[in-house]
Amino acid sequence: MIDRTMKEKSLNQKTVAIWFTGLSGSGKTTLAENIEKVLFSMGYLTQILDGDTLRLGLNQNLGFSEQDREENIRRVAEISKLFINSGIICINSFISPTHKIQQLARDIIDREHFIEIFLSASLEICEKRDVKGLYKEARNGNIKNFTGIDSLYEIPINPDLEINTGVLSVEESVVKCLEVIIHRISK
Ligand code: ADX
Repeated sequence: MIDRTMKEKSLNQKTVAIWFTGLSGSGKTTLAENIEKVLFSMGYLTQILDGDTLRLGLNQNLGFSEQDREENIRRVAEISKLFINSGIICINSFISPTHKIQQLARDIIDREHFIEIFLSASLEICEKRDVKGLYKEARNGNIKNFTGIDSLYEIPINPDLEINTGVLSVEESVVKCLEVIIHRISK
């Protein structure tokens, strides 16, 4: 049997799931992409899983009810676990709005391989940015159950790291993340 440790050895890295949680527009995708770039340049093999992308394919039959969000996270956490078992570092960007959902991801992947990073930009700032124009649509009533507007976001209870992306620049945020990540993935 070729197990995870052998694969990690072959890739010359230790594996971990980095789990970004936060409101839409809090910077999850941006940070994931920037961190991947840095890790790649350092020779680490990574895979990004992102809500917007996965909802176009694997999870295209899911909406934004509490039940569908839970199923969304259950599926992506299972995929993340497959990457972990292949020795690949998996960077996940999902709103993951409730304590139940945050706990589900952690339980599926397992504590030892889980780094939860909470991007704590305020609703006010995310809404002001409104990169995708969705907050405006939600305020107009054209999108229902929008996180932060008419659907709940529960602040993670004990994240490994909290970054206020409303205050810090992308570069500063990347540095903070890497401080936590690097020693967990270095051989
Ligand atoms: S989660 O709640 O199930 O974790 P996920 O991260 O996959 O959500 O998807 C969030 C993305 O879907 C948002 O960034 C936004 O672009 C889009 N979206 C569309 N409708 C909604 C909605 N009602 N609530 C939140 N995000 C939505």
